[in-house]
Amino acid sequence: MLQAALSSRDENAPPGVNQRAAATVAVAAAVVAAAAAPPPPEDVSPAAALQRLSAAVAALNYQHFPEAIPQRAAQLAVLTRYVTDALAERCGTAIYVSGAPGTGKTCTLQQVEDAVRVWRGEGSGSSAAAAAAARPAFVHVDAAFQTSAKEVFQRILEKIPGNVQRSLRAGRGGSGGSSSGDARAQLEAMLAPPDNGSGSSSGGAGGAAKTMLVLTIEEVNYLRGRGDAVLQALFGWACAPNSRLVLIGVANNINLTETADIGVPSDAVTSVLFPTYTAVQLEEILTARAGGVFDPRAAALCAKRVAVRSGDARDALQLAQGAVIVVRKRIEAALASGGSGNGSGSNGGGSQVSSNVAATAAGLVTTRDVSAAAAAIDGASGRSTMGELAPAQKMLLCVIAALRAERCGDTPEVAAIMQRHAGAMLDAGFGTYQQGFQYALDALADGNLVEVQGGGIDRRDGGEKPRFVKLNVSDDDLRAVFTENVFKKVLPRAGGGGRGGGSACR
Ligand SMILES: Nc1ncnc2c1ncn2[C@@H]1O[C@H](COP(=O)(O)OP(=O)(O)O)[C@@H](O)[C@H]1O
Ligand SMILES: [Mg+2]
Repeated sequence: MLQAALSSRDENAPPGVNQRAAATVAVAAAVVAAAAAPPPPEDVSPAAALQRLSAAVAALNYQHFPEAIPQRAAQLAVLTRYVTDALAERCGTAIYVSGAPGTGKTCTLQQVEDAVRVWRGEGSGSSAAAAAAARPAFVHVDAAFQTSAKEVFQRILEKIPGNVQRSLRAGRGGSGGSSSGDARAQLEAMLAPPDNGSGSSSGGAGGAAKTMLVLTIEEVNYLRGRGDAVLQALFGWACAPNSRLVLIGVANNINLTETADIGVPSDAVTSVLFPTYTAVQLEEILTARAGGVFDPRAAALCAKRVAVRSGDARDALQLAQGAVIVVRKRIEAALASGGSGNGSGSNGGGSQVSSNVAATAAGLVTTRDVSAAAAAIDGASGRSTMGELAPAQKMLLCVIAALRAERCGDTPEVAAIMQRHAGAMLDAGFGTYQQGFQYALDALADGNLVEVQGGGIDRRDGGEKPRFVKLNVSDDDLRAVFTENVFKKVLPRAGGGGRGGGSACR
């Protein structure tokens, strides 16, 4: 197992992660994987099985960040090093973290923060005292929730505690010491003070202890707009000579630092990529979180199904959790019908209970259970369940709605939808996504969310007739469910004529 973990780690080291980091990380990952391996089930009574299943349901909750995050040790190690190196040198830096949704960006950054909080400066060339003095403040902002890009300055300012603001302003004479000016000016004065030659704000030896701010901005691409001035300010402060800002921008787009005008050369920003998980990686993640209750083939099936659709760990966790719930319900039903729910032993509830429980191998989730859970998720339709679709399917619904609006309500053609879908997936940063378009369309049709019309062979010329897609969902329903910006951006505006379509429809 150790060997397997080591070799898979090397293969999966993302670009930009150097060999030394990857090696350190591989060992850490093997330790994490070994520690996370669940003990083999011992008690085979139905009551014990129910307990294990309930624990698995909790462990698979995607809103819960686990302690062990297999497959992300490399990113965890490099990010922690970049941040602690900057803090040790007391100079700001800019880091850009990218990857499709559900690639573990947020949970890894959470662990980076935990590691930085306990960091004591060892091995970074600075003394423990210097490290303690440089202990940073942490602020998180989600740019997707701001009504305008500029608003983010106010949001950041509000989140910096008063004592940290005072410390950031300390040691600086003149107007820099005051808290006047708009949010942007105040932040600039604190985070990228001008080099006035006094040395008071420099990171040099003997300089005043300088508080640093580690600022994480999720969905940082939403700060684009009008010349990218907001991005320029933030990245500019992080890269300024006197910077006190460690900026960690997070987004789906892999190449934001190249496509946006961030005001500093893109190679001044350290990029860390979170590649989309493969089936093997998702299987390891599921196994680490709740492996004990899965037949290995069932965990593999969950992982494979999600890998071909989105590679989103959230989807894998949701599917796996659904499968565990299927088994739990079956055992509960068997216990109820056998009249013995006290879990006094696997043969205590009569032969009916014994055989049902035996069929689930004392609460083991099988491939059949995964298929049942998948069918329940795929077959789901309507507002309440659209939110559970795979991202590619959500995007497909948005694209169909947009094209329908642009065509003034007419059903769009499959070929046009396919083309727009590919572009929208790329724009949204699902760039490494591999699912077949047809698969997503079939899944929506199975769920009755769309209807594919037309097609067949044209008798006159033997060619294929065009196929059209009718959307069975209203724009309002889509807007109500798909509130994330990646989808909102694609959906037609309320009452409008579609994306850039103006008011061509009468
Ligand atoms: N390597 C991993 N190991 C365990 N759980 C993971 C891993 N990667 C992602 N997850 C889980 O998947 C969910 C989504 O991860 P998250 O960090 O929010 O992804 P992102 O920020 O890239 O969209 C979270 O519940 C997280 O705990
Ligand atoms: Mg996230």
